[in-house]
Amino acid sequence: MSNTATLATLSGSNLSADPNWWRQASVYQIYPRSFSDSNGDGLGDIRGITAKVPYLKKLGIDAVWLSPFYPSALADGGYDVDDYRDVDPKLGSLADFDGMSAALHAAGIKLIADIVPNHSSNRHAWFKEALASPRGSAARERYIFRDGLGPDGGLPPSDWESVFGGPAWERITEPDGTPGQWYMHIFAKEQPDLNWSSREIRDDFLKTLRFWSDRGVDGFRVDVAHALTKDLTEPLLSRVELSLEGTATDGSHPFWDRDEVHEIYAEWREVFNEYSPPRTAVAEAWVHASRRGRYASPQGLGQAFNFDLLQADFDAGAFREIITRNLAEAAVSGASSTWVFSNHDVVRHATRYGLPKGGGRHAKGQDGKGWLLAGAPAGELDAGLGLRRARAATLLMLALPGSAYLYQGEELGLQEVTEIPDAARQDPAFFRNKGVEIGRDGCRVPLPWTPDGASFGFGDGGAHLPQPAWFGRYAVAAQDGAEGSTLEFYRQALRLRRELQGAEELEWLDTGNAGVLHFRRPGGWQSVTNFGGGAVGLPAGTVLVSSGPLDGRLLPGNTTVWLR
Ligand code: GLC
Repeated sequence: MSNTATLATLSGSNLSADPNWWRQASVYQIYPRSFSDSNGDGLGDIRGITAKVPYLKKLGIDAVWLSPFYPSALADGGYDVDDYRDVDPKLGSLADFDGMSAALHAAGIKLIADIVPNHSSNRHAWFKEALASPRGSAARERYIFRDGLGPDGGLPPSDWESVFGGPAWERITEPDGTPGQWYMHIFAKEQPDLNWSSREIRDDFLKTLRFWSDRGVDGFRVDVAHALTKDLTEPLLSRVELSLEGTATDGSHPFWDRDEVHEIYAEWREVFNEYSPPRTAVAEAWVHASRRGRYASPQGLGQAFNFDLLQADFDAGAFREIITRNLAEAAVSGASSTWVFSNHDVVRHATRYGLPKGGGRHAKGQDGKGWLLAGAPAGELDAGLGLRRARAATLLMLALPGSAYLYQGEELGLQEVTEIPDAARQDPAFFRNKGVEIGRDGCRVPLPWTPDGASFGFGDGGAHLPQPAWFGRYAVAAQDGAEGSTLEFYRQALRLRRELQGAEELEWLDTGNAGVLHFRRPGGWQSVTNFGGGAVGLPAGTVLVSSGPLDGRLLPGNTTVWLR
């Protein structure tokens, strides 16, 4: 396969028909409610995204991944879906969606939709029907209902905990008004888990995949892809471990990463392959590295997130080990590797890297005690250092073979917002796990487009999460055309990545310095990162782009440079 040819076609204004377009794509995640607000109601919307397509095109990305845009009460930021085949009226209409999709496609940008199969919302028609129907009914069988323990069934069916804290079971009131059965929810109680042993559920999701694929969606990001199938044989197991470290590597956990889940994705693959080019998918699967390839296989979803760099400190040895291992794994699964530093669930990497060593791990990943976002005391944050390192890490990532996933606002160098008052917080992780986690709102604050104005250009009204005064400094308009700005740096790097990207190969070069990583890509393009504090000599070659200022032929600490 010639990736150069693949990406060359992508840079034109026509959408690539190449079935491998995703292998080394730069994918930009939009959290729609916080991107751009076209109607001034404080919530970002679909038309807001359409209006910013020129911005996205200029940024130089290949695809947009759109976090959930479905009707939702926003109990979990839209990951509580009321209807899988519609657009939230607060965000627009299906016609607006089609308009956005057409505008993105006209700009040569593919569209990846987030799909949330593990749970619906408690406002989904299925769940309402289940509540109104008797025990043992077909309507209850779409979810996971059980009788409680104890003489009056007043105790939950097991001691399982929810990822957001508290029990993973909620008791309902039966239609006759008596206290009734319990339903399972791995996440918030507004997110009842669906029963994936039901043929009806399986078929309905196939219908949903076709619904969006027919509307021009090019791929899917699959939410908690490792949770769908469950072992619910009685008696239910006690004390189930939620953290990845505590999860079995042989598929024996009652709901994380069971082997049968791949039967579902094999069916999905058949649907994807009905289209030309085939629809793509990427699994959000917090599983052991040794089992990631199953999700990424060409008979399955085709790609899986690797959160290893996201969870690592800014450290040369750790980065090298992770990169080497993931490229080897990708070679085995047949997928391309994925790389990501920031998303809507973790502390922004410009902030993580400004925290003392170990700060990187303040974004723990979905490990049961959740996305541990408490962070370090504000006084310990060095935002300047964090941003220098974030830019260096990003430039390194953009030089790697595989797809790079970027999160809205990182191209502005945005820091995590830590000063959100408790009363303004929205994340269920904050409410269910009070005092342990502050939740994920800090990376979901609406973007600043202009240095001032009511909501820094996000819309004509306010912003649904409060923006701090310092946001203006990071505004798009403040960085547009400004030499050395993070935005211009991202644009330059993304453009070069498209031009230079070749075969999916990487060769490490010896630096004689454990704090410096140097590798070469086909075509002679090289990336050098100095993870240390002090400057080091630059290897030979013409400088293409650097993440920060160079000192003549010296590469300062916390800086990456591309050479040829
Ligand atoms: C995924 C999403 C996260 C959400 C959870 C439950 O991990 O990324 O935002 O809260 O699933 O749907």
